[in-house]
Amino acid sequence: MTPTRTRNPFTPGSGKSPPYLAGRENEQNRLRQILANMAAGESPAADMVMFGPRGMGKTVLLSWLENEAKKASTKDNSIRTSWTTPNKLTSPTDLWSYLLSQDWKKRLKPNQWIAKFALLSATWESRSAANQALVSTLTNECKKSPLIFLMDEAHTMDAGLCRSLLNLSQEIRRNEAPFLLVFAGTPGLQYFLSTVNASFVERSDKIGIGRLDAQSTADAIVKPLNEHGIEIDDSTLAPVVEDSQHYPYFIQLWGAALWGVAKEEELQKLTYQEVTAAKTKVESVRLDFYGERKDKLDDLGLLPAAIAIAKVFQDAETTTRDVLKKVIADNLPVDSLTTQSVNEHLRTFIRHDFIWKPPQIDLYEAGIPSLMTYILD
Ligand SMILES: Nc1ncnc2c1ncn2[C@@H]1O[C@H](COP(=O)(O)OP(=O)(O)OP(=O)(O)O)[C@@H](O)[C@H]1O
Ligand SMILES: [Mg+2]
Repeated sequence: MTPTRTRNPFTPGSGKSPPYLAGRENEQNRLRQILANMAAGESPAADMVMFGPRGMGKTVLLSWLENEAKKASTKDNSIRTSWTTPNKLTSPTDLWSYLLSQDWKKRLKPNQWIAKFALLSATWESRSAANQALVSTLTNECKKSPLIFLMDEAHTMDAGLCRSLLNLSQEIRRNEAPFLLVFAGTPGLQYFLSTVNASFVERSDKIGIGRLDAQSTADAIVKPLNEHGIEIDDSTLAPVVEDSQHYPYFIQLWGAALWGVAKEEELQKLTYQEVTAAKTKVESVRLDFYGERKDKLDDLGLLPAAIAIAKVFQDAETTTRDVLKKVIADNLPVDSLTTQSVNEHLRTFIRHDFIWKPPQIDLYEAGIPSLMTYILD
């Protein structure tokens, strides 16, 4: 087959679904099960929190869930989805307009429902009697048609809004209505949620979105290439898989670069030579990416501690909180050294996803391992 002259199918960037969504089978199965239960009218036991470092594929997985909900919908039982980000929510009115269905709003003229929302929901908090009318409406709507409410970039939410939304979700689920609240955000989302004063959020269903395994990384690159008539054998691909660090954004960068070289030279089979040419392209984008991250750590005054942490990860894939705290403490000026300041620095490293802790394991990983190597170099 001759390589087809279509646009590059790879999607290095943010939020755009890749040509082949690799390595998320466990998460997809878990989400499919929840969808099936909701389609059967069951209300989920908890909210869902997806978190992971930037560029790991949280937005992509939310999009997949949105599409899957459409597929799971039947004529008699459609699952409704509503997607928003905190920057679109400036008042309770905005929030309600994302929660309630178009059908419900169509029954009123736009200025009427806006006035109605404004009247009923003067604050983010849903405790007022007026808001109860909206809660009942949403409960009834969810009983007719289950709702999945997707909040991307949830770590940037207003704390009051977040608390209201969590309380609202609990109330709707307690009313036995199928409503699923899904938050997606960076590792800082966990800290943010612990500060919003809604104790039950600890018991949310957590999904960590981390790097892929080697086989999924290879699939993410090879399958789209093959579909476009471009072959690459396992031994030529091996250094690509390794260099990508199994990091979804780098995987797409590599895929796009290989596809570009194949297209330029009208090749049907990639060899070591094309891999070397593609690497130059990948490397130049990646240097900018690392440079920005390093400057950010420097701006925060965290570079010496970042270098010390990077040294820890030179010899190990994971480490403990105690080791990280010790390394941070060793790199803080003596006059500002307190338990509190060490914990605050650790949190800052996590907020900027230099390190993170996936759920269900008590160990920390590097956000992107090769960033550590860059900082050491
Ligand atoms: N499972 C996957 N397989 C292959 N590529 C993927 C996968 N998931 C995401 N990608 C690619 O990785 C990149 C980052 O994805 P996405 O924007 O969803 O990450 P994110 O975690 O939402 O990042 P951010 O925190 O910056 O919003 C995109 O180029 C996307 O196409
Ligand atoms: Mg995203």
